[in-house]
Amino acid sequence: MSKTYAIAVIPGDGIGPEVVREGVKALQAVSERCRIDFKFKEFDLGGDPYLKKGILLTEGVLAQLGGVDSIFLGAIGHPDVKPGILEKEILLKLRFELDLYVNLRPVVLFPGVATPLRSKGPKDIDFVVVRENTEGIYAGGGGFFKKGTPDEIATQESITTRKGVERCVRYAYETCRRRNRGKHLTLCAKNNVLVYESDLWYRVFHELHSEYRDIQIDYQHVDALCMWMIKNPERFDVVVTNNMFGDIITDIGAVIQGGLGIAAGANINPEGAAMFEPIGGSAPKYAGLNRINPLAAICAAQMMLEHLGEFRGADILLSAIKEVVRNDLVSMEAGRMGLGTREVGDRVVGYIRDNPESG
Ligand code: IPM
Ligand code: MN
Repeated sequence: MSKTYAIAVIPGDGIGPEVVREGVKALQAVSERCRIDFKFKEFDLGGDPYLKKGILLTEGVLAQLGGVDSIFLGAIGHPDVKPGILEKEILLKLRFELDLYVNLRPVVLFPGVATPLRSKGPKDIDFVVVRENTEGIYAGGGGFFKKGTPDEIATQESITTRKGVERCVRYAYETCRRRNRGKHLTLCAKNNVLVYESDLWYRVFHELHSEYRDIQIDYQHVDALCMWMIKNPERFDVVVTNNMFGDIITDIGAVIQGGLGIAAGANINPEGAAMFEPIGGSAPKYAGLNRINPLAAICAAQMMLEHLGEFRGADILLSAIKEVVRNDLVSMEAGRMGLGTREVGDRVVGYIRDNPESG
């Protein structure tokens, strides 16, 4: 009997639909090779439904999304919508309401992909960032006082809970153990300035270490960590950090692994829902041109297979991604790949079908 997974697909804005289409194509090709089936259901969320009908993320849709095996998201963000609305009411709402408290972002340089780091190669760039995904500045606390006057005050509060930190740090320790590479976990914070919230992270990080003595630990201030990511990325195995720092450092991560064209992430509640996305955004100027790189979305689909426990399918897709970057793509950049969006997807499907492993 083959296993069936219910997958909610949110193509979203800009290039989202184009890259998600290729991700779905890859998943379908994997399902033909392995004994798995996917039931895809599309949800129309993003800038267009908001501008046309005023629709954001409703309770009904949220409940449906909470009930599927995985969510596959393209991108959210529209040039005609004021910054903050779609992010807060769709993307962050999904992360918060479904309590997707881990944002897992691998930083891996595949052989054949160019990195801007001279003298670094695939053996040097292979780590994963565990970003807390439901708290910190993103919780949205704060407000204005005397707005629009010369006496105006704006506050932006950061919320850090012991529970929130603990579950995230625990996930990072577990990830480090599971990866079994350097067994080296780095906490990224700023405890010389954020003397309350980083202090809480620091204490929890050390307290939990007593349960994970097989793992070596290390601490870096976020600014120093940005430097080390560029200077010596090989020193990292797993990095755990808060929401805001995680957002920033994973953009650096994306660049050193070859750019946003290949960087993917997973929003995970280990006890519940999970959502997979390319981390690059909606890139409206490339929308509809068949020029954007779909590999980030295809890598997100690969992470989904791993999360579902479909390791054979995940391996087949990973090999296909590696083949395509090694043999077929001139660059990871939109418009410079030497192939169109659809053609990259076609090649991935070709490698999945040609995979020598017998089905
Ligand atoms: C990301 C994005 C989002 C974030 C934005 C779009 C709200 O930058 O997923 O990294 O800041 O988390
Ligand atoms: Mn970001």
